[in-house]
Amino acid sequence: MSSEIHKKYTVNFDKSKHEIIIGRNIVTTISNFITEETNDKRVLIVIDDFFSGEVLNSLLQELSKLEFAVRVYRFTAGKQHKNLNEAVKLYEILESNDFARDSTMIAIGGGVIGDLAGFVASTYLRGMNLIQVPTTLTAMIDSSIGGKVAINFRKTVNAIGNYYHPILNLIDLQFISSLSELDFRSGLAEIIKCSIICDRALFDTLNTNDVEVLNREEDILLKIFCRAIEIKLDHVRNDVKEQNRRLKLNYGHTLGHSVETSTGVFEEVYRHGEGVSIGMVGAAYIAGGLFNCGDRILHKHEEILKKYGLPIKVDSDKIGFERTKLLKECIRNIKKDKKRKGNKLRFILPVEIGKCEICSDVTDELISESFGYLIQ
Ligand SMILES: NC(=O)c1ccc[n+]([C@@H]2O[C@H](COP(=O)([O-])OP(=O)(O)OC[C@H]3O[C@@H](n4cnc5c(N)ncnc54)[C@H](O)[C@@H]3O)[C@@H](O)[C@H]2O)c1
Repeated sequence: MSSEIHKKYTVNFDKSKHEIIIGRNIVTTISNFITEETNDKRVLIVIDDFFSGEVLNSLLQELSKLEFAVRVYRFTAGKQHKNLNEAVKLYEILESNDFARDSTMIAIGGGVIGDLAGFVASTYLRGMNLIQVPTTLTAMIDSSIGGKVAINFRKTVNAIGNYYHPILNLIDLQFISSLSELDFRSGLAEIIKCSIICDRALFDTLNTNDVEVLNREEDILLKIFCRAIEIKLDHVRNDVKEQNRRLKLNYGHTLGHSVETSTGVFEEVYRHGEGVSIGMVGAAYIAGGLFNCGDRILHKHEEILKKYGLPIKVDSDKIGFERTKLLKECIRNIKKDKKRKGNKLRFILPVEIGKCEICSDVTDELISESFGYLIQ
């Protein structure tokens, strides 16, 4: 299989610099990159359980040709495993095999693996080399970029975390073809999010090319995919620690995380992107009430999300919850949102499609009303 590079971005965050390389069949080229970066030959590869067979064998062969001492840790996917227990297992492997700061951790998988392995790499010996190889759409355009790494703790999503940048982010498009419909659509939610916060043209492209996108046609996919990455980079570049502009990337996450947490951190009911989809509808509902713009923006949200088969409401019966209890739980959990300042929640709200604002004066009544609209 010949490898092909489509695009490279050089990223300067804080004082660090690395490349995001987008291509096809490029995962096996990692060994050359590590050789250029470090003399240390110890490598820990944390892989998602979907990843096996020919590609994994070729990667291991390439690494062994260059005499790397490789350990592979296979991780059972699912956000219920993004926790301290799993982190400890990785620390044990690193410590008992004398990994050093300039040894390398390679995270090959979705956002769960990238976040967990990234968190461990950021804390082991106060930071070792990390290479991100995101394999879900969510991880490719979102979680592997911008340096946020974290694990869940008790019932709080991403409660313990860090900002830590990889030495390389290798995005191999070959992984997209094996993604389930659910994971593919879930990743598209984050691209739709990017369009709503700042790019009307991207929103229009998504609206008119839904069939091609859902068929995973490479040209259109690459176009919307790269645009989403550029939007992410643009929001993170001068605000890594999320004081201002980067906050906007959390559009849909305030209500979405609360729904995700309330329906189950341990038993996954919604994929992250599905939670964001529901959260965006709730935020559009709030915007309608706050900016007196009626239902126009809300309808546009519902229309595009439905086109992409993403959830716009929570069907309590279907997911086995009692509606009133779930409502109460969501209202309780939203108060723990990480973006809050003091007791004030900060919402990202759309003023129109392609433009949003950060807003701290949403009343408790309006928040409850929006959950009432979302949860059926
Ligand atoms: N750090 C950040 O900035 C950030 C941003 C967004 C989301 N996140 C985190 O990311 C996580 C969600 O990530 P996700 O949606 O990728 O979920 P995930 O990592 O759980 O992956 C979803 C499923 O896809 C499978 N999979 C992965 N790659 C595959 C492939 N190429 N083919 C077939 N199956 C594949 C996995 O085995 C898993 O079953 C959440 O924990 C969320 O908090 C972090």
